[in-house]
Amino acid sequence: MTTLLEVKGLTKTFGAVQAVGGIDFSIHVGRCVALLGPNGAGKTTTIRMIAGLLSQTAGTMRFHGFVKGDYGKGKVHIGYLPQSPSFYNWMSGLEYAVYAGRLCGLPAGTALKRAKELLERVGLSGAAKRRIGSYSGGMKQRLGLAQALVHSPKLLIMDEPVSALDPIGRREVLGLLQELKEETTVLFSTHALHDAEELCDDVIIIRKGQIALQGNIAAIRNEHRKPIIELQLEQDEVSIKWFTDYKDRLSRWSDEAQEASFIQNIEQQGAAVRFTVREVDSARQHLLEVLTREKVKVSRLEIGHTSLEDLFMKVVAP
Ligand SMILES: Nc1ncnc2c1ncn2[C@@H]1O[C@H](COP(=O)(O)OP(=O)(O)OP(=O)(O)O)[C@@H](O)[C@H]1O
Ligand SMILES: [Mg+2]
Repeated sequence: MTTLLEVKGLTKTFGAVQAVGGIDFSIHVGRCVALLGPNGAGKTTTIRMIAGLLSQTAGTMRFHGFVKGDYGKGKVHIGYLPQSPSFYNWMSGLEYAVYAGRLCGLPAGTALKRAKELLERVGLSGAAKRRIGSYSGGMKQRLGLAQALVHSPKLLIMDEPVSALDPIGRREVLGLLQELKEETTVLFSTHALHDAEELCDDVIIIRKGQIALQGNIAAIRNEHRKPIIELQLEQDEVSIKWFTDYKDRLSRWSDEAQEASFIQNIEQQGAAVRFTVREVDSARQHLLEVLTREKVKVSRLEIGHTSLEDLFMKVVAP
């Protein structure tokens, strides 16, 4: 795999605030990478440094062979869609796309040709001559994509490309990104795991300016997949009280205790109980025995697996 972007020790401080605290990662050619993290994690700051719009406090970046003093020259190979793009509402979509192409240094004729191709590509040909002020949120975001792609960048960077959209706009843009990621290398930020899961090959999870977890999303999913047993108790106080006591007893177990060999963790919220287990069969059998013996009223028992959502919540929890 060829590395397109390599980031080492990237750091940004704003006065006393450390927005990005020394992160390392690489992006390979042709991959679609999600930068995932909660509000304030440092996504926009990271993306703006990579796009060359903000200078780093420390760290190095190598993009497509450009480093240090030369990094700015690499900028022409990056397409960037900001978190809240602003447009000139009085312009038409076509005028705006041509203007973006000219700003990237394309000659007038090429800019017009590319702008038309891109508007077609993002499904805006029919609205190309309409004022941007009359576009929907989804249309504006698609115009933003056309603008970011007009100069055929090697890396397309998007900051929260679907977060501000309603469900219809979101669908439109996700569908388009699904196609675009086949054509170019993509880095996008999001705070929503399902957007990352839908689009990306690789994920970089950041929290408080640090990388909490990174890698191939399918591999992460497999590696962290653990069997679980979920119980729903009936809403009777005796059962819930018994269970709460049982859980407290279990939390004091030593490693030699019998249950510790197959139950790893227990979470309880009222009548809903969730066991993360090492081995489903022995855990299930044991639990059913205990619950029957103690006459605990169970209304549902379900076997499943921890999801990526569980992992994400654990990794980014405050
Ligand atoms: N110009 C600035 N001056 C001071 N602090 C800043 C500045 N820009 C960002 N920060 C701080 O840096 C941290 C990271 O902000 P950033 O915008 O990169 O996060 P984010 O992950 O993009 O969040 P969101 O999901 O809300 O867009 C935050 O604590 C933020 O308040
Ligand atoms: Mg942001």
